Amino acid sequence: MDRTDESSTLQQRWFADRYAENARFVSDRAEPLIELLAPTNDEIILDLGCGDGALTKLIADAGATAIGVDASVDQIIASRNLGIPSAVMDGHNLAFNEVFDAILTNAALHWMTSPNEVIDGMWNALKPGGRVVGEMGGAGNIAKITRALTKALERRNLHKKVVFPWFFPSEADYRQRLEARGFIVDYMALIPRPTALPGEFTAWLDTFAEQFLFLVPKKERVAFKEEISDAVRPDLFDPHGCWVADYVRLRFSATRPEKDS
Ligand SMILES: C[S@@+](CC[C@H](N)C(=O)[O-])C[C@H]1O[C@@H](n2cnc3c(N)ncnc32)[C@H](O)[C@@H]1O
Repeated sequence: MDRTDESSTLQQRWFADRYAENARFVSDRAEPLIELLAPTNDEIILDLGCGDGALTKLIADAGATAIGVDASVDQIIASRNLGIPSAVMDGHNLAFNEVFDAILTNAALHWMTSPNEVIDGMWNALKPGGRVVGEMGGAGNIAKITRALTKALERRNLHKKVVFPWFFPSEADYRQRLEARGFIVDYMALIPRPTALPGEFTAWLDTFAEQFLFLVPKKERVAFKEEISDAVRPDLFDPHGCWVADYVRLRFSATRPEKDS
């Protein structure tokens, strides 16, 4: 993809090299999720929103047959380069029918803003008795960052143009959606998880908040990012020298029952 091309503006873009440099912590912090999944070597497991395949590979290394899907062509190429069978697919339109023993999804569901369509697709993709184990941004996730972004846009009178790119549900909200589809919720917790970033806060903005950056003319963007960094610095810059994002994760496990009720 041409990175100077912003014709698809207001869309977050995922580049595998930028992801590896600025966002490796996303998969690195997913160990508890893999433990909750507890993959076994007779299982076929889908990694929904697999990114560059780092977690999909962990599942494969545990002996399961692991398959990744992601909306980003660049991420899927990286995942295939790890030897993972992977396909470009929108999580809102999963094209599987009772194929998987389990679905893992990490840090991807909050990018899918029509959650009921995704839940429907996950239900259909699972065999009866199958489970989905997931983690996503939950209620309150990056609240300080979002406030600073919104204020910086307000100062430029651009805030009305924002299409909020994330879905950060409460426990009650997501439980209700899963149960309405027929899932049994086995586990759900909202977990505040301040997260150390590997570099500058502006790199986090480049990697995760393009949808906001694209609203600002290119020549003003450096100043825009610095303004947001300065606004969050008192809360998110640790005096020991590291940026710490105000993440809150919603972690859950849910089962599609053997028989529909
Ligand atoms: C923060 S990354 C997480 C990647 C990976 N799960 C990990 O733990 O490293 C979010 C991923 O969600 C993918 N994504 C966003 N919207 C999607 C959609 N509608 N359907 C499928 N994947 C999507 C992005 O392409 C990106 O690779």
